[in-house]
Amino acid sequence: MYPFSDEQIFDSWSKNACQWSEAVRKGKIESRRLVTNDAIVEAILKRPPQSVLDVGCGEGWLVRELADKVAHVSGVDVVPGLIERAQNAGGGSFYVASYDEIARGALDGLSDVVVCNFSLLGKESVETLFKAVPSILAPNGAFIVQTLHPLVSCGNSPYQDGWREGSWDGFGPDFTDPAPWYFRTLSSWVTLFQSSGFRLLEVSEPVHPKTHKPASVIFIAEVTANNSLQLGADVSAE
Ligand SMILES: C[S@@+](CC[C@H](N)C(=O)[O-])C[C@H]1O[C@@H](n2cnc3c(N)ncnc32)[C@H](O)[C@@H]1O
Repeated sequence: MYPFSDEQIFDSWSKNACQWSEAVRKGKIESRRLVTNDAIVEAILKRPPQSVLDVGCGEGWLVRELADKVAHVSGVDVVPGLIERAQNAGGGSFYVASYDEIARGALDGLSDVVVCNFSLLGKESVETLFKAVPSILAPNGAFIVQTLHPLVSCGNSPYQDGWREGSWDGFGPDFTDPAPWYFRTLSSWVTLFQSSGFRLLEVSEPVHPKTHKPASVIFIAEVTANNSLQLGADVSAE
């Protein structure tokens, strides 16, 4: 099935929308319950924002979690079945769009925080999104990313960027057709932020209380002054 593509990612998340929503909503993913859910909510509320956009929001748990703490919360995802579930559960506004569509201007407005919680799975689509995030961030806004920690997610494969086969190990028999995903080393993530016009303010590694290994890595970044000037220049030149 190589080379992998975003279509396979979309296809897998569409097929597993129901199973995934149930796993998230019933708290079946231990690392989320014990560590990563609180870690991302805390990272967001520390800013503290008036508006948050959750990119790759899935069935919308993070939007619902923030609903009574942040004035304007919205979520966007490419899978209609997930967005429908999010809309039915409420908590904010939800939109169907891919990262490429976001980069082509599918969303209106600017957000104080743009967050991606375990939603950066592809290669080019993620790089395209990173380039686009400065244009959907309010002045002094933050781009916050929580993702698998490369040290742990690398497994026995070589520690180098590349597509990996997906797996639903530990998720139960209802899950099907796991999505491929693009592995990035820690330094590659840092380079991606920097080359997309961001300055990293903080990198944290929440530790799983049972395994004592990092459950994730969280990056908090702002647009660099140079990039804001450039964006401003582009806007005023129009
Ligand atoms: C592991 S789930 C995480 C969902 C949610 N952020 C959460 O914390 O439960 C990954 C999500 O990213 C979305 N996604 C992946 N690539 C995408 C893309 N190129 N455009 C839009 N959504 C994408 C998938 O549809 C899926 O809902």
